[in-house]
Amino acid sequence: MSNGFRLGLFYTIVRPEEKALLAAAERRSLAMVRLSDDEMVFGFERGSLDVDGILNRSVSHSRALYAAHYFEHYGIPAINLPDVLERAGDKILASLRLSARGIPTPRTVVALTGESALKALDEIGYPAVLKPPVGSWGRLMAKVTDRESAEQILEHKGALSSPVHSIFYVQEYIPKPDRDLRVFVVGDRVVGAMLRRSESWRTNAARGASTEPLPVTPELAELSLRAADAMGGGVLAVDLMESPRGLVVHEVNPTPEFKALQAATGVDIADTILDYALQRWRR
Ligand SMILES: Nc1ncnc2c1ncn2[C@@H]1O[C@H](COP(=O)(O)OP(=O)(O)O)[C@@H](O)[C@H]1O
Ligand SMILES: [Mg+2]
Repeated sequence: MSNGFRLGLFYTIVRPEEKALLAAAERRSLAMVRLSDDEMVFGFERGSLDVDGILNRSVSHSRALYAAHYFEHYGIPAINLPDVLERAGDKILASLRLSARGIPTPRTVVALTGESALKALDEIGYPAVLKPPVGSWGRLMAKVTDRESAEQILEHKGALSSPVHSIFYVQEYIPKPDRDLRVFVVGDRVVGAMLRRSESWRTNAARGASTEPLPVTPELAELSLRAADAMGGGVLAVDLMESPRGLVVHEVNPTPEFKALQAATGVDIADTILDYALQRWRR
């Protein structure tokens, strides 16, 4: 099926996902060029990158986002598009977008200083969840149970000089069952879904949650496709929780891992991503 099309793989480290993409390309005799985000330098001149399309798989939000802007400048089609990475990769922008589209999502308040964060937490009520606006794998999130722990966590955050800790994303805690839902969307299709179950309130697969395949109900498909569309579409993993008032979308991942989903569902996600990319880009 090779016709000289050269696909770039922009990556940080070759995880099982990138291995699966490389293997899927190899099975089709499709040339896949590795572009390391550690090594690349981006100038104004177009034409320095000899590829016809790029899968942007950098694990860093800022690297993925800046690179995506350059890929666009060079006229090279890439997944995902910069606007999509920007919106979905930042929980504040993603929440705004979900809310604007009327997609059910946990109640969320943003504060720009430690002092106002305390007000935000009081407004949301306890328990509340404090998340870094940019981040993944459930890292650096806190479940804040009362005002006293709120003050202590904010004091700790105030002592850290990182920009990630100076903007406060405060969300109502959803008393969900011991699991959440992960739905993988490629273009206008749901290609697989799973439950992630854990004793911890953070049910990320990367934190060791156990996974099982999840049948996709029409409601789940509709919500997930709307959430993906709200971000601008592409290859996106939608995270949902079962709240007492029904399903809520809490995150849309623009550079999703899929090892656990592939194992749980048996769906070849890497292959599906390649199909989608080639279908969009091959003329
Ligand atoms: N508001 C919430 N209430 C209860 N649990 C939550 C809430 N937000 C997140 N979680 C749990 O924490 C996990 C990680 O949160 P998420 O917003 O998806 O951040 P990350 O980008 O780190 O995956 C979720 O999969 C879910 O299990
Ligand atoms: Mg998540």
